[in-house]
Amino acid sequence: MQKGERVNFGSKIGAILAAAGSAVGLGNIWRFPYETGNHGGAAFILIYLACVFLLGMPIMIAEFTIGRRSKASTGGAYKALAPGTPWKWVGYMGVLAGFLILGYYAVVAGWTLEYILEAGVNGFSGKGPDEFVAAFQDFSSDPFRPMLWLVVFLLGTHFIIVKGVKNGIERSSKILMPVLFILIVILAVCSMTLPNAEKGLAFLLKPDFSKVTGDVFLGAMGQAFFSLSLGMGCLSTYASYFGKETNLVNTALSVGVIDTFVAVLAGLIIFPAAFSVGIQPDAGPSLIFITLPNVFQQAFGGVPLLAYIFSVMFYVLLALAALTSTISLHEVATAFLHEDFGFTRGRAARLVTAGCIIIGIFSSLSLGVMQEYTLFGKGVFDLLDFVTAKIMLPLGGLLSSIFVGWYLKRSVFYEEVTNGGTLKAGVCRLCLFLLRYVAPIAITLIFVNELGLM
Ligand code: PHE
Repeated sequence: MQKGERVNFGSKIGAILAAAGSAVGLGNIWRFPYETGNHGGAAFILIYLACVFLLGMPIMIAEFTIGRRSKASTGGAYKALAPGTPWKWVGYMGVLAGFLILGYYAVVAGWTLEYILEAGVNGFSGKGPDEFVAAFQDFSSDPFRPMLWLVVFLLGTHFIIVKGVKNGIERSSKILMPVLFILIVILAVCSMTLPNAEKGLAFLLKPDFSKVTGDVFLGAMGQAFFSLSLGMGCLSTYASYFGKETNLVNTALSVGVIDTFVAVLAGLIIFPAAFSVGIQPDAGPSLIFITLPNVFQQAFGGVPLLAYIFSVMFYVLLALAALTSTISLHEVATAFLHEDFGFTRGRAARLVTAGCIIIGIFSSLSLGVMQEYTLFGKGVFDLLDFVTAKIMLPLGGLLSSIFVGWYLKRSVFYEEVTNGGTLKAGVCRLCLFLLRYVAPIAITLIFVNELGLM
């Protein structure tokens, strides 16, 4: 495809909302509150903020530079900027990571649809804690139902992707993101006005520095990468659709602020509601799919209509947040197949959707009937999560910071960040310093830690 014919996002705000849509997802609403709760509350949030702004932001700017400069999908971007070098493998790894993440992320995204339905038919009403545990276990290990929802979710994602960059990704982000903000603010306000909500607020916001260990730093950095969609070229693919007037630094800052804001609000929904009924926040999927339905019933037990509305809204929120992220994951592989293999966009999207359905089926089954089939002690679902989030993303982030910090010509970086000299260059030096030294060292630490080498 010629550079000139390539589609762009129609507006700056469209670009910001699309990138923010990628960043805001299950990582914010499920993972962030739990990590925060277990790592000393406000102390973790402070470290997380440092990670987002000192590491996440420069790497996001690096990915934006790679994408907009090359005007190519992640797979083609490194080939265009570093022809004839092995750097192209960083792009290929990103495409593979996106494909694999989608293969299990869509399973959890599918669960949100089941829970919207359950909440919608008032199925949570009158259930006790044990029944919620049993219901989740029965559902997630069922051989058919989760797969049905997985397929529905991926087809929804597919439908938006085939509509294209402007009419699909940009338009859906412009609608979904504001709805998501409204829902999350309403839910947070409701949750914070529950009796005893202040205990939850204290748990989330009162710094407990005695809990700050090396592990907390590394946990905060890992969370920042996953949550900001960094390390696999998702944002570089989106940046390839940025117009030449898009300010990369401002866009990155907006995405960082929106992502952090949503994560903190998610904490403000979950903890006050949980503490209000004396439930300890639990880990992993159970917090969202077992503990929370129970919390909603108990917290608003006196007013069944409120419990009903709160539950439906929460799962709709979760599904929308997951959808804007699955769109971005799908786009990475679709754009690659479309641009590098010459498939039509529709055909490329069909291949990605079909491939993800197959991987998704195996990851879903690995939580039920295929539980015994493991590799390195992990089923498909856990293995995909481990290999992508804990190996491929840190490696991708590390390599992209080295690529822009050390390989790419400084003038190219300056040109992109200042939009050809029309914006102030002050931030470039700071950004380059962070990319050259701070980011590679910090990511190496996360990487080594998560592989259990330290
Ligand atoms: N950032 C998304 C979330 O928080 C997950 C994601 C990771 C999306 C990597 C795209 C790429 O849920």
